[in-house]
Amino acid sequence: MKKRGITLKVREGEQTGVESRIQRLEALRKEVEGCRKCPLWRTRKNPVFGEGPPDAEIMLIGLGPGRQEDLQGRPFVGAAGKFLDQLLEVAGLRREEVYITNVMKCFLPENRATDDEIRTCTQYLDQQIEIIQPKVIVTLGNVATNYIFGKFGLKPEAMEKVHGKIFEISTLIFQAHLIPMYHPASALRNPPLRGTLIEDWREFGRWLRELRVV
Ligand code: URA
Ligand code: SF4
Repeated sequence: MKKRGITLKVREGEQTGVESRIQRLEALRKEVEGCRKCPLWRTRKNPVFGEGPPDAEIMLIGLGPGRQEDLQGRPFVGAAGKFLDQLLEVAGLRREEVYITNVMKCFLPENRATDDEIRTCTQYLDQQIEIIQPKVIVTLGNVATNYIFGKFGLKPEAMEKVHGKIFEISTLIFQAHLIPMYHPASALRNPPLRGTLIEDWREFGRWLRELRVV
């Protein structure tokens, strides 16, 4: 009996170990690379799966790839990405220490996705969250925020009300903090938001240091 318990423990350890996370994420990445489950596969050059440490404590979730991201196959490498890099710095974070992904994995020619496309593609985001098990999720913009609020049973709220605030989210096997933020691209379209974003990220950095997550 005792032996069996020990064996089981080792197996559990393997399940959550970094090696296992890398393997599961790579298998999922391959699936996304071949995915044709919604019409967006036709207009993509490269799916953008996401990047960062497989055991990252902080996960950022944007909307979906723009032109630059589609060309490079990496998230947030265009104009919005440059501003995101500044915001990470304001919070005292290095880009390499956070996991960055999107609700949608293929290029959005009109910068929006239909409800159907979101429903279809979020099976991948759900699995990324399950594998990485971040302690903190930062949603960038309305689409990611609404999706995560809905997934964890929170009442939908306007971004004006919730940006920069800390929410607790949990399921039976998962628990994390959620911080909704304005999308960095919204400050490029609407410059007055820039200051709000910088202040929200500065405050987020302070909170992280208090929490000793980083
Ligand atoms: N905007 C997003 O939402 N995601 C990206 O990866 C780039 C721009
Ligand atoms: Fe598949 Fe998502 Fe790309 Fe649609 S957007 S084809 S669901 S990976």
